[in-house]
Amino acid sequence: MEKTFLMVKPDGVQRGIIGEIITRFEKKGFKIVAAKFMTISEELANKHYNEHVGKPFFNDLVSFITSGPVLAMVLEGEDVIASSRQMMGKTNPHDAEIGTIRGDYAVVMNRNLIHGSDSKENAQREISLFFDEKEIQDYDKAIDNWIH
Ligand code: GTP
Ligand code: MG
Repeated sequence: MEKTFLMVKPDGVQRGIIGEIITRFEKKGFKIVAAKFMTISEELANKHYNEHVGKPFFNDLVSFITSGPVLAMVLEGEDVIASSRQMMGKTNPHDAEIGTIRGDYAVVMNRNLIHGSDSKENAQREISLFFDEKEIQDYDKAIDNWIH
């Protein structure tokens, strides 16, 4: 089953909406298979946002993502990469549809609450940056057959 890397960013933690964000993914039917509450080092931030090195917003992005704890997670489910991106909404909350996480809870681009992998390759890369293989759980839930 497909897996993705999701992260409640420091603004989501500070605003006390970790629970509301996770609830959306649980209710959708995605399965949490790993989670870690942690503060990202500058080195990890550079690796994670490697594709944005050199862009004008890069330094602010690294400062922000390392500014406080985040909740890093791996979620599993059918088409979870694309679906969770839809649930997050557009990068700029100003353009994000109401009903999405960013559309409902965020206002500006550099405080957009949540990260989600944007491709299979990046999901693989980001999962292995944040988690060891042994930290990812493989388990069944009785409700699985009612979702898939
Ligand atoms: P992430 O899940 O954080 O990776 O967001 P995303 O995939 O929706 O967007 P992207 O990877 O393109 O950009 C990463 C982050 O950089 C975004 O979440 C924004 O906070 C920030 N960012 C992206 N583009 C811009 C920009 O043009 N200006 C500014 N100020 N920030 C940007
Ligand atoms: Mg991105």
